[in-house]
Amino acid sequence: MAVSSIIQSVNMASPQFKANPFPFYAQLRAEAPVYRLTINNSDKNPLWVITRYQDVASVLKDERFVKDPKNALPPNQMPKADWLPGFFHIMDNNMLKMDAPDHTRLRALIHKVFTPARVEQMHFRVQQLADELLDTAAKDKHFDLIEHYALPIPLTVICEVLGIPDEDIPKISRWKKSIMSSVSHSFQRLGRFSSFIGFVSYIRNLCHRRRVDPQDDLISALAKANENGEMLSDEELQGMVVLLLVAGHETAVSLISNGTLALLENPDQLDLLRRNPMLVKSATEEFLRYYPPIETATDRYARENVMVAGVTIPRGEQVRAVIASANRDPSQFENPETLDLTRENNKHLSFGQGIHYCMGAPLARLEGHIAFNTLLARMPNIQLDIPVESLRWRSGLTFRRLETLPVTF
Ligand code: HEM
Repeated sequence: MAVSSIIQSVNMASPQFKANPFPFYAQLRAEAPVYRLTINNSDKNPLWVITRYQDVASVLKDERFVKDPKNALPPNQMPKADWLPGFFHIMDNNMLKMDAPDHTRLRALIHKVFTPARVEQMHFRVQQLADELLDTAAKDKHFDLIEHYALPIPLTVICEVLGIPDEDIPKISRWKKSIMSSVSHSFQRLGRFSSFIGFVSYIRNLCHRRRVDPQDDLISALAKANENGEMLSDEELQGMVVLLLVAGHETAVSLISNGTLALLENPDQLDLLRRNPMLVKSATEEFLRYYPPIETATDRYARENVMVAGVTIPRGEQVRAVIASANRDPSQFENPETLDLTRENNKHLSFGQGIHYCMGAPLARLEGHIAFNTLLARMPNIQLDIPVESLRWRSGLTFRRLETLPVTF
């Protein structure tokens, strides 16, 4: 069947599609590697999906694809965006949505304070958290690995790095859950709106407090950071904290839960890692390749007409580079559909490429290494508690994340 006829029935953002998108990506790579389609999402704007490894890597590095649509089109041609009151701008105004020179300035500032030493300091704490969480989970033979392990590790770690007090973490978690939930009734909408207000007010107040009374944490360090005499404005600081908080745990949750699922689906590989914990570094890279937490990179817009693989993407149009497809491209990876924890030269694109390359990759890797080895050491006979077909993936184009991962041991 031609790609165009299949596409009619595919909604790349739906949970059903996300259960196994890989055959569809293989077909796009073979027949239509640069393909324009309309995703059945809220804005319904058409976008270009890029699926081959080389094209995904080059789009992510190509500065003709910008992050801020204002840099791609004159104001009168801008697609209509939802109006957002100024109070909420910090939710959406961060360096992942910026281009040079603002992006360069913000990235240089964070680079100064989010250092390898700060990440390495968290080693002991990550191990302690993994042990404590499994002590609690082990009291019951059945538990949701996401709620009781994969989520609390990175959430606690990023909150502590930023300087969010431990007693506030449950509140942050509740707000975030409500903000990210899908709502159908007006009272649910109201609940989400009040979570937004609670979350934004909390971050604004915390940033303000750290400016006037700095502590030994990342928010205070960011507030003081200075690059060629320039410092972050209040709004930039708040936007940065929201970005680090969200990017700093949502993805790492998926690294731990998707990686565990990959092991449970491949018992020979689980056994291999259990017997050889030293393999955990290459295993983590393979989990990132096989089930990447970011399925498609965030929006980019063509600043001019750009040719990709012989197809012209017109100025102003939106592009999505599909990392999950690039990572399974046979022109780059031998036996890409096989989970191979000993894979060498694993140049997956799961942390992106170019100027927006993930700033948290060392922290995410540290969390993954400790989480996988601790889990297998403590629960060597871990198993899925429901049939794999019953697992539900979250909807949405960007993340690849399970709703729950029920396990038993
Ligand atoms: C396994 C976990 C993670 C994965 C797979 C991941 C993946 C990514 C990807 C693909 C991008 C680029 C997106 C794009 O170009 O469209 C990105 C950017 C970013 N990530 Fe991560 N990330 C992870 C963990 C983290 C953590 C733990 C932090 C912070 C503590 C973090 C902070 C950021 C930031 C700040 C950016 C934006 C960089 C910029 O715009 O220059 N990430 N991440």
